[in-house]
Amino acid sequence: MSSIRLTNITKRFRDIKVFENIDLTIHDGEFFTFLGPSGCGKSTLLNLIAGLEEVSGGKIYFDNQDVTHLPPAKRDVAMVFQSYALYPHMSVFDNIAFPLRIKKMDKGLIKTEVERVASVLGLHDLLDRKPRELSGGQRQRVALGRAIVRKPRVFLMDEPLSNLDARLRIEMRAELKRLHQKLGTTIVYVTHDQAEAMALSERIAILNNGVVQQCADPLSIYSRPANTFVASFIGTPPMNIIETVVIEKSSPVLSLGKKRYKLARADTLNFERVLLGVRPEDIEIKPFSREGIEGIVEIVEPEGARFLIDLVFDGISLKAISDESFKSGDKVYIEIPEEKIHLFNCDTGERIEITYK
Ligand SMILES: Nc1ncnc2c1ncn2[C@@H]1O[C@H](COP(=O)(O)OP(=O)(O)O)[C@@H](O)[C@H]1O
Ligand SMILES: [Mg+2]
Repeated sequence: MSSIRLTNITKRFRDIKVFENIDLTIHDGEFFTFLGPSGCGKSTLLNLIAGLEEVSGGKIYFDNQDVTHLPPAKRDVAMVFQSYALYPHMSVFDNIAFPLRIKKMDKGLIKTEVERVASVLGLHDLLDRKPRELSGGQRQRVALGRAIVRKPRVFLMDEPLSNLDARLRIEMRAELKRLHQKLGTTIVYVTHDQAEAMALSERIAILNNGVVQQCADPLSIYSRPANTFVASFIGTPPMNIIETVVIEKSSPVLSLGKKRYKLARADTLNFERVLLGVRPEDIEIKPFSREGIEGIVEIVEPEGARFLIDLVFDGISLKAISDESFKSGDKVYIEIPEEKIHLFNCDTGERIEITYK
């Protein structure tokens, strides 16, 4: 078990800078995720921690040991990839046993260890099979088993569930979480899937444009996104973000199309314009209301337990989620609860903290 500290990490491929001055600490035993769009450098960062890539600048520590220039084999990490990378000609047993055989562990001990891991992962009845005789989910479990059997200081997982279909992905997600609770080993996880990151992680670092946009626990990221990138990246459908003019600053009133939106409880807002964010699940739609904004239902998408609803008023489009169904063309009233709104700086996209009276 180990904590991991990245200090001032910079990585360039020739003259292309992937990221610069990354500083963060992953705690001992933590389930920590790097989340970001494809190409933002997640795999590169994981490879730096594994020692598969060299840093261009900065240092990496495991606990207090400087591992920056240590080769992968000496770092005592186990990696699990999207492609399972199993040996096709070997049985499940031999695949899991492989790292222990390399260590020249005693045969009897290998058997005990492989069986222990197989029972943790529910692979007991499959030990004699070859990888081609397994489903995708079973193969990924074998790949996990091969990582676990080594009892590494740290697990590094690069989109390990991406090759699985949607249903299996959700099943394996719960299994990974159970596994982490059982083993308590530090896991550094990489994904582009925000729902997966939210479900699994104790903390998430969101990467974009070579910069950590926010690093916090899932609920803080959801409820207080640091900027518009994070706000739109987390949550499905993404947060609605509307440009508004600040009509009154001292007891703030914003323009919303031709309507006005009063922040009844907020203190002075010293901006000319702001971006107003509201999540689809925080919008309330009512057939009748005195305070709401009058709008029209454009599209309704049933999801079973809830409905995704596209609304429009004054040329502004909003996505909402409702328990109630409406029909396309319905006239409705849209309520945006003040305590649910987010404000962002129009120029920088940074979150503006609302101060209340
Ligand atoms: N070996 C390499 N040589 C040159 N550029 C690379 C190399 N590996 C990755 N890159 C570039 O670095 C960036 C980040 O890649 P990667 O870490 O694979 O992103 P992610 O895993 O987030 O999709 C991309 O622009 C990619 O093209
Ligand atoms: Mg990648």
